[in-house]
Formats: sequence, C-alpha cells, structure tokens
Amino acid sequence: MIEPPEPEAATAAPLRLRRPLVLVGLMGAGKTSVGKRLAGLLGVGFTDSDHEIVEAAGMSIPEIFASLGEPAFRDGERRVIMRLLGERPAVLATGGGAFIEPRTRAEIRAHATSVWLKADLDLLWDRVRDRPGRPLLRTPNPRGTLSDLLDRRYPVYAEADVTVDSRRGASHEAMARTIIAAVQAHDLDHPDSPPTLEAAP
Ligand code: S3P
Repeated sequence: MIEPPEPEAATAAPLRLRRPLVLVGLMGAGKTSVGKRLAGLLGVGFTDSDHEIVEAAGMSIPEIFASLGEPAFRDGERRVIMRLLGERPAVLATGGGAFIEPRTRAEIRAHATSVWLKADLDLLWDRVRDRPGRPLLRTPNPRGTLSDLLDRRYPVYAEADVTVDSRRGASHEAMARTIIAAVQAHDLDHPDSPPTLEAAP
C-alpha cells in the first residue's frame, strides 16, 4: 500500500543541520532505523558507530568483545565517535554503551546535540529478544540483564540534550519528525547557544 504523505511533509520549511545529531539509548530503542530516516529528512549523512567499528576491526561485535574485550571495544568506540564528530554535521547512531562512557559522553556533549530515544523495557525486549549479536545480553537471563542495564543507564541517558519517547507502532518517519520538533524546541529554549537546526536559505 502506498502511504499518503504526512501532512507536515508538504509544509515543513527546509532545514539545515549545524551540529551533529547523536542518537543515544539502549539496544532496541531504534537509533539506527530512526536515525537513517532522520538523516534522509534533513538531507545529511548517516553513520552508525557500531558499523564503523566493525568495518575498522574487520570483526563482528561479538568477536571484538570475545577476542579483545569490552574495554578495547569502548576505546575504539570513543575514537570512532570523536572522528565522526569532527566531520560535516550528520546524524550519528551510537551503540547503547557509548554515552555511558564518561569520556565519550563528554565528547558528544561538547561537539553535538544528543537525543535520547527512550523506550520501556517491554518494547526494548520485544525488539532485541530474537536478535543475537549483542554480547552483553548473552546471559542466563537476558531480559533481566536488559532490565538492569535500563536501571543503571537511564539516569545517564537523561543527561542528553533532548529526550524523545520511542513509541510502539510509531513509524520511523513519525519518530524522525518528532525528533526534529524536539530539537527545534531545544534550540528555542537555548537562545544563547548556537542552534542545531536552522532554516535553509
Ligand atoms: C552495546 C550496544 C550495542 C553494541 C554493543 C554494546 C551496549 O549497540 O554497541 O553490543 O553496551 O549497550 P546497539 O545499542 O546498537 O545494540
């Protein structure tokens, strides 16, 4: 079925991204799929830090965790993110642990506008339960592990500049538009800081 365009699509003024937009949040929050759509709407590039690390290492994430260990993964993650933050403003989806690392978080806070895609445990679990490839969830009780991560990490994700609820059933397009509106609201609330989004000339 061809979906009719969303009403805003015809009327939204073109926007220019002035600072990188970094999506943070737990595994399964939708950072990659929503981020790609967001980049498409803004007409900018999209990168996924996990993907970049896998390319650079020539190994999958479970292989990196198994052979080099999580600290090496975190170090590579920080270096990849620092490099990407220095490039032309784009949308960057980060692995769930990136914003939790103090040094990586400091880089993101200094050079980007961060957006937490916040989701509840049931939604996250529904999205990750049948997908292997997340070494942190290879435990006897992966749902419990995810719940523990949520408890520990949510206070840290809350330091992101913008929080957007990841709604069950919302399209990637709808989520991306919600993020744009939330970032614009954040810009209006911070008139003394350089805006993240500007009307394109
Ligand atoms: C991790 C999340 C994963 C990946 C790695 C560690 C985490 O990324 O970076 O398995 O610490 O939460 P996604 O959030 O994209 O699944």
